[in-house]
Amino acid sequence: MEFEEVVRRRRMVRRFQQDKPVPREIIHELLQHALHAPSAGFSQGWGFLVLDEADDLGRFWKATKGDVNESVQTAPVVIVPLAHKQAYLDRYAEPDKGFPPNYEDRWRVPYWHIDTGMAALLILLGVVDNGLGALFFSMADATELKAEFGIPEPYDPVGGIALGYRAQDVPSPNLQRPRRPVEDVVHWGAWGNGEPS
Ligand SMILES: Cc1cc2nc3c(=O)[nH]c(=O)nc-3n(C[C@H](O)[C@H](O)[C@H](O)COP(=O)(O)O)c2cc1C
Repeated sequence: MEFEEVVRRRRMVRRFQQDKPVPREIIHELLQHALHAPSAGFSQGWGFLVLDEADDLGRFWKATKGDVNESVQTAPVVIVPLAHKQAYLDRYAEPDKGFPPNYEDRWRVPYWHIDTGMAALLILLGVVDNGLGALFFSMADATELKAEFGIPEPYDPVGGIALGYRAQDVPSPNLQRPRRPVEDVVHWGAWGNGEPS
């Protein structure tokens, strides 16, 4: 699929075909995409919990208390991208960066979450490229999830990605909102300027 088409067709999918598992090769490919995401200082402070067995998925939805629609909970695969803040603090304490150990003031913006989000986006784009659908969803509380799956303390789930072959979906009410126009969002040269003629 052409890149432009992948981007254009990427919409969140909240309903999946039940009788069509996702081949493991595709899951591996999606994870390879994720590992090509950029990361500050090439810290790569992330991890991915991958669940594609019915038992594990059941434990996942129980642990996260099912923050999402029931239809999402039938997805054949869930990938949880996790951010590892300490990896960034350690990386930036190396000689080529030269920050003091555990220097948190360096980070006006939490790049561990941003980079993990970029990796998640590459998974979402790979999903479309493979003819699948996915939903990135938030998690109010990850305490039980971390305990259930033995996730080490410093790893912080940024959300979850449910994916599978898409079924007829009910459009989200969110989509009644219009996409914001370019002139509201893009500022050329100075804030408030439109596109130069
Ligand atoms: C950080 C983030 C969290 C989201 N959390 C949820 C969620 O918990 N449940 C859900 O149904 N959709 C969730 N979404 C999907 C958004 O609702 C969706 O991206 C938005 O409405 C635009 O629709 P589109 O992605 O189909 O273009 C989330 C998206 C992002 C980026």
